Amino acid sequence: MNAASFFPENIKRALQNNPPGEWIPEIPEDCIRLHCGYPAPALVPAEEVKAAVASLLEEEQDLPLHYIGSPKILKLKEQILKRLKERDIFVSEEELLITSGACQAIDLIARILLDEESIVAVESPTYMEALEIFQNYTKRKISIPVDKHGLQTDVLEGILAERKRRGLAQPRFLYTIPTFQNPTGTTMTEERRQHLLDLADSYDFLIVEDDAYGELSFNQNVPTLKAMDKKSRVLHVGSLSKIVAPGMRIGWIAGAREIIHASDWFKKDLNHPFAQATMAVYLTNTNFEERLITLRDTYRSKCAVLLSALEQYLPESASWYVPEGGYFVWMKIPGVDTSKMLTQALAEGVSFIPGKYFFLDQSDGTEFLRLSFSFEDEKEIAEGIRRLGSVVSCQADHGK
Ligand SMILES: Cc1ncc(COP(=O)(O)O)c(C=O)c1O
Repeated sequence: MNAASFFPENIKRALQNNPPGEWIPEIPEDCIRLHCGYPAPALVPAEEVKAAVASLLEEEQDLPLHYIGSPKILKLKEQILKRLKERDIFVSEEELLITSGACQAIDLIARILLDEESIVAVESPTYMEALEIFQNYTKRKISIPVDKHGLQTDVLEGILAERKRRGLAQPRFLYTIPTFQNPTGTTMTEERRQHLLDLADSYDFLIVEDDAYGELSFNQNVPTLKAMDKKSRVLHVGSLSKIVAPGMRIGWIAGAREIIHASDWFKKDLNHPFAQATMAVYLTNTNFEERLITLRDTYRSKCAVLLSALEQYLPESASWYVPEGGYFVWMKIPGVDTSKMLTQALAEGVSFIPGKYFFLDQSDGTEFLRLSFSFEDEKEIAEGIRRLGSVVSCQADHGK
């Protein structure tokens, strides 16, 4: 018997896509990791989480270990609502759903809004995990290019207008990471944000705003799309992964109550009472504004080290965007296939993610790569870029 014969057609089709996570390179032990979007280990609050667990169990005994019971779960909602207010997002409890990370939030949104006929619009390039999620639901995608000012809303408008003229269906939603985007590190300007909201209204689609890095600004705070959203078209997806700890798996959706209601309906993993209650205690005991200052200072400084090493070690032909926050620097090396170059880079002891994985049409991404300054310490970052520089120069020499 072949168990795969039991799969319905939509699942069979989805399983023909590239396997999830194939973009993660196999990294040798002693490699400098500039590929991964993980927080700096020193900034993950292990001691504080340990204290939160101890005080939670001391106070509530076995309650957080049951399906239902810990009152702290409601406290987490309060804490997240408070954090959202800091970003000028004013939603009620019914407009907020706590999820298992931003990934589950995106998956639930896709699940309740997409069928195989639906169209989803994505940035090009975009977060590869989101591409993987959307692949599971529909093949029908439109990609809109990103430049150094974020999503090119004029291109989007052209596409939407043309589709309207030809009587074609419009996207059900557009997925964007407007602030410190993954992978480009770019931030959408305020004018483009307003333009995007206006387009959503005129052409009748929803916007999924993935704000995973939104609080990690190096300079001033950037207003969220949700804060500018007068018509309730934005589903704001957030996460504690990049600012507290990814292993806690805490994220959320803030948006129209009908969407929250339906997402909750299909969220059959129940809550994660222990993780949620622990995070509630942690957040209650933490001065988060102070924590954010530390995170921003640390990542600003790491980014500066990476950028100055790029200036020092990369040949003239390479170019990159300078981010104003987040975890990533996006680089272009004309004439070089970065997927092939990865093998040499790993042999030299430095990793990155080849750009192609962030594109719907992978051939658009061959000359790009994503570097992350979040995980390694400053000395390693500088050394990693020195190694990368020698690999790139070697490629450029061979190309001559
Ligand atoms: C843009 C973006 N969204 C979401 C996530 C995942 O967040 P979570 O760990 O909360 O699922 C990431 C992590 O890399 C990301 O870069």
